[in-house]
Amino acid sequence: MERWLMVIDLPARKLALANDRTIVETVMLDRKEQFPKSTVVHDLLRPLIGGGVFGQPGGTQVKETRRIFSRSLATIPDAHLHDVAETITADYIDRWLKLPERRVPISEELSRLTVDIVSQCTLGNRFDAAESVRFTRLFFAFHQKAAPMVLMLAGRDPKARARIVKDMGLEQIGAEMRTLMRERFVRPLVNGTQSLESAPFALALSEAGRFTTEKAGEEALLDEIAVMLLAGHETTASTLSWLSFELAGHIALQDAAARAVSDAVDGKGIWRQSPPEAVVDSLSKEALRLYPPIGFFLRETEQDVTFRDKPIPSGSFFVISPWTLHRHRKLWSNPDGFHPQRWLNDVPAPARTSYMPFGMGARGCPGARFATVEMAVILRGLLTRTRLSLLPGTRPKPLGNLTSRPDREIILSVSERRP
Ligand code: HEM
Repeated sequence: MERWLMVIDLPARKLALANDRTIVETVMLDRKEQFPKSTVVHDLLRPLIGGGVFGQPGGTQVKETRRIFSRSLATIPDAHLHDVAETITADYIDRWLKLPERRVPISEELSRLTVDIVSQCTLGNRFDAAESVRFTRLFFAFHQKAAPMVLMLAGRDPKARARIVKDMGLEQIGAEMRTLMRERFVRPLVNGTQSLESAPFALALSEAGRFTTEKAGEEALLDEIAVMLLAGHETTASTLSWLSFELAGHIALQDAAARAVSDAVDGKGIWRQSPPEAVVDSLSKEALRLYPPIGFFLRETEQDVTFRDKPIPSGSFFVISPWTLHRHRKLWSNPDGFHPQRWLNDVPAPARTSYMPFGMGARGCPGARFATVEMAVILRGLLTRTRLSLLPGTRPKPLGNLTSRPDREIILSVSERRP
């Protein structure tokens, strides 16, 4: 969508899609209270995260809960995250390189890897192999069924919306995923077989008085743990899946990046004198630009507003979309091309409303630092130890329901990269 503002009539209400810088700032920052998260997000995610913060429109409770997330993530030192991510990534790569024909379902594997890293760092525990395969496959199925547009067309009647969510089959999948998370991450803490001190996020919840062993309290605990695990792995997995796909499709660039990242070479050729950190950073940024995992933010307006002379009534949906902003022809050169070098060479940083993979304002991502460190470690592991290539016929598209994850499994050929 290249237009700065487009207003569409849905059956029950209007939908405004905005790329205009002033509107983006108004909705996300200046008048954020007037544009809370849409209840569609809550309805769709409720089977998985219950009343967890991610689905909540806003308010004091959201502010307090967000502080708990931020506080707990701040207690995890970068060096610890680095070590955990490096060790687990090395184990995954060892396993891939032993696979017959070395054909790796990269999206599923990266989902398992990232859920292991975030759970180990925040909860001091991880799924076993069978559980993690089950968990990632269930979540993929959840994504395929959870279509926000269906709810957006459905009107406001809560009962009708609950029926639609039920018909999507989300409750069953959500319940099974919750059982896996409850057994692995909540029960050991509640039973006392795992200490709270080993689980920074549970400790922070406990310090805020949110940890209780009663049934209702246990479910509320599970809601927030589910938010941490789901928001904390799906986004990094989606970004790294698309990045792996692009690297596999640009072998010369991949080889040059691998040489630049290995300690022996100081970023010559297409990377000029860029140090390894800058090369890795530019790859992550470009993947986040082309494939922002949260492709759109869905808000609702609580008052009548007028933007660019268009009246938009209270109750309308507002969509601010990193996907369209990051590929806007008037904001970027070569907008659809994979060109990580655009982030080097001292080019000015993009405007904050042109590039916002981590969102902005009151509901921006509290895990941005964690994600940046984690993705850099995984990427270095991939580039230094593997060579990724495409197999014929793999043409994924973004799913675009809850996140931009690929709509099908990407199977890559993974060979060992020799120095
Ligand atoms: C590439 C990685 C990531 C990206 C692009 C990303 C992006 C985002 C965005 C855009 C939002 C806001 C959604 C909205 O406004 O509707 C968000 C929320 C959130 N993210 Fe991230 N995220 C990433 C990784 C992480 C990680 C690693 C964690 C935790 C370790 C995390 C935890 C959260 C949480 C808890 C929220 C909910 C905050 C709230 O409800 O106010 N994210 N993320």
